[in-house]
Amino acid sequence: MAITVYRGNIVTSESLTKLKVIENGYVVVEDGIIKAVLEEMTDEYRNYVVRNFGDGIIIPAFSDLHMHAPQFTERGIGMDCLLFDWLNNFTFPQESGFRDIEYARKIYPQVIREFLRHGTFQVNLFSTIHYDSCDLLFKLLMESGMYAYSGKINMDSNSPDYYVESTEESISSTERFIVEHQGLSDKVKPIIIPRFAPTCSLELLKGLGELAGKYDVGLHTHLVESIAEAAWSKELFPMCASDGEIYEMTGLLQGNGPKIFAHVIFPTEVEERILKQYNCTSVHCPDATTNITAGIMPASKMLDNGYSIAIGSDVGGGHFTGIYRQISRAVQLSKMKEFYEEDYKRLIFAEAFYMATVNGGKVFGNIGKIEPGYKFNALVIDGMQDDGYKITTEQCVERFCYIGDDRNIVARFIDGQFIDPEEVYKRLIEKY
Ligand code: GUN
Ligand code: FE
Repeated sequence: MAITVYRGNIVTSESLTKLKVIENGYVVVEDGIIKAVLEEMTDEYRNYVVRNFGDGIIIPAFSDLHMHAPQFTERGIGMDCLLFDWLNNFTFPQESGFRDIEYARKIYPQVIREFLRHGTFQVNLFSTIHYDSCDLLFKLLMESGMYAYSGKINMDSNSPDYYVESTEESISSTERFIVEHQGLSDKVKPIIIPRFAPTCSLELLKGLGELAGKYDVGLHTHLVESIAEAAWSKELFPMCASDGEIYEMTGLLQGNGPKIFAHVIFPTEVEERILKQYNCTSVHCPDATTNITAGIMPASKMLDNGYSIAIGSDVGGGHFTGIYRQISRAVQLSKMKEFYEEDYKRLIFAEAFYMATVNGGKVFGNIGKIEPGYKFNALVIDGMQDDGYKITTEQCVERFCYIGDDRNIVARFIDGQFIDPEEVYKRLIEKY
């Protein structure tokens, strides 16, 4: 029984619309799990060593529920394209490089270091179609201590000759991936990742749907991401009323794992039914939405209607890894939507923070709050106070999301273990 006590200002979600703040509080952590959160020290814990972070603010670590690990090297380039140009001119050539395992060995440890630097400890990742690189990414994630869903992506149609697989190959290598990785770790788990409906044949999706049922595996894909994408899907799958129905019809929603849909910018009634019926998580990716797609996810409306929405960086469609910046961008974008649409209501900061911590974290278990029973996956950030003018602790967290960065993260913990991103990176490149 290893108990550690941390002292600092604590900020966590109390509800979707309200943050809870405990000034000068204590977090008692036993074997990586939060045992108590105290406003005052009690006799029970008085004799334990207290790690005092002073004015530092203890917050839950962030979850990135939609990120493309192989697009890491594309951050901030090709950003004046729209989706299809960007895919064809930048992304497909770049991702195809992961057929070379040495390239994956070079890039993937850097991706993990970047997540750790920015306080993102739970991730749901896209990869490429290449088995060996996907296997490496999975093992690096396990070694890093992070929580993750990862797998092999599928593309057998409408893809360039140099970056495509046959239907049989795609299904059989996905099955092999699941068999060889399921059960390896309680923290890193396989997920099925058809890139999006246009790059998958009906036969492929049906084959993957069978695997979802057979192995009880979840689904991660893009859904109604742009008007052009939704129209193309409808043309390719005329038997389905909308994008979402393609995944339902092919059996991809039958597994017990999480069903995670990126973007969901134009949900129809069909998507709305499916998202509720299968307890799906939709992922808002504000930077990517701005960079490569058209439209803004109706996030506040969906939250009000009880849908679970998390936040994603969607790097490289998005250009920056820090999920905290996507929190502020989500608020900004919702204000644009409110400005242009009469009956739309903007997000408040507490809602966006909740999406990035609570809604993202719950996909991985009891993660996303500083509350008893939750994993101590947490960050300590500095208050970014100016001399001579003090803002509240809650405002400090808001300011961090708008103008802070990894330099303002003072300490990082996963399962109560202190994490040094550089040390982890060194270990990854030495071991793999
Ligand atoms: N749709 C299909 N592939 C992609 C991708 O790589 N990024 C994004 N944002 N959308 C996609
Ligand atoms: Fe994406």
